[in-house]
Amino acid sequence: MLTKAVSPKISTQKATRMEHALSLFLYSLTGGKPYLSEAFAGQQPDAFRTLFMQSLIDYIEEEQNPESFEAVEVGSWVGASTLNWLDSFAHHGWDRAHITCCDAWENTYGLAGLEGHYPAPIPLDDTLAVMATALNTGVAEALFRHNIAVSGHKEKVTIVKGLSQRTLPRLRSEGFDMVFIDASHAYTQVRSDIHEAKRLVKDGGFVCGDDLELQWSECDRTAVEPYIEKDCIVDPGADRYFHPGVSKAVDEAFGSVSVYWGFWVMQRVGDEWRKVDLTGLPLRLPRGIGDKEKDLIGSFLQAYQDSFKLGDAGRQLRRQFSSGKFHTTGA
Ligand SMILES: C[S@@+](CC[C@H](N)C(=O)[O-])C[C@H]1O[C@@H](n2cnc3c(N)ncnc32)[C@H](O)[C@@H]1O
Repeated sequence: MLTKAVSPKISTQKATRMEHALSLFLYSLTGGKPYLSEAFAGQQPDAFRTLFMQSLIDYIEEEQNPESFEAVEVGSWVGASTLNWLDSFAHHGWDRAHITCCDAWENTYGLAGLEGHYPAPIPLDDTLAVMATALNTGVAEALFRHNIAVSGHKEKVTIVKGLSQRTLPRLRSEGFDMVFIDASHAYTQVRSDIHEAKRLVKDGGFVCGDDLELQWSECDRTAVEPYIEKDCIVDPGADRYFHPGVSKAVDEAFGSVSVYWGFWVMQRVGDEWRKVDLTGLPLRLPRGIGDKEKDLIGSFLQAYQDSFKLGDAGRQLRRQFSSGKFHTTGA
């Protein structure tokens, strides 16, 4: 039945996995648990990126020990990143932390996203097709609201529904400590989200985002320029998938940025924007992480922790680990 309801672009194998995942989904709904698993592409942030998103909150705790904290998330999908931020706030006992989640929960991807791969289609079509279906049917928004309701932190979340180009301009200038951008990957849209984020962040605050696999200076700019309004493509020179619109918009706004496995971040200092070195802090396993990811990042975490015994050489090693440059696939 499910196979008929979803887009024909979803493969039979994926549809069968979705049927299985759907039963888990129903179990989570009735059992009052968050649901972030495979159906509806719930686990959006790469597990390695999640480590560094968490690390940014550790960094802020160490640098600023804030009494209150106001964050904005642009693009929440079904809530994986939101839950991760909330968990990180709780880890430091930030009772007065709050996050405003802005999402349209509308199918802004359309066919452009599905057709945007270069030089040939790459196997992300299923993810985009699943996302389009979950948005069209209202499942994505319902799941996000469910996940927040059962998170144990729902009083820390304000939901702002609508396209970011309409909702962000309504938020208070310099009213926020952190803006996390993870909505559309099209250049024009990312440029607009970053422009707003810079306006929203207080002195000392942070603008960060997902999906920067290559900095603009690292891509074959001439070859990829025609694709900047698409979702993700493969760079012919670097031979890895990336989001060209994110790379270009981030570069225009900040130049080269600090980036950890695709999670990028800059700090406002007066009228300037500075890189943020997260390699001085140990990483910890995020609480909500699945068993598969646990195995995958376990050895990485071990090597990362061990490097703290190696002084300067260890820091070099951590820089290399955190670049994620040996990582070639992902969502
Ligand atoms: C990649 S997902 C976000 C993933 C989420 N941060 C996570 O880690 O789980 C992108 C989200 O951005 C939303 N989106 C895309 N374009 C948007 C726009 N112009 N305004 C608001 N939301 C948008 C989509 O509805 C989708 O939920």
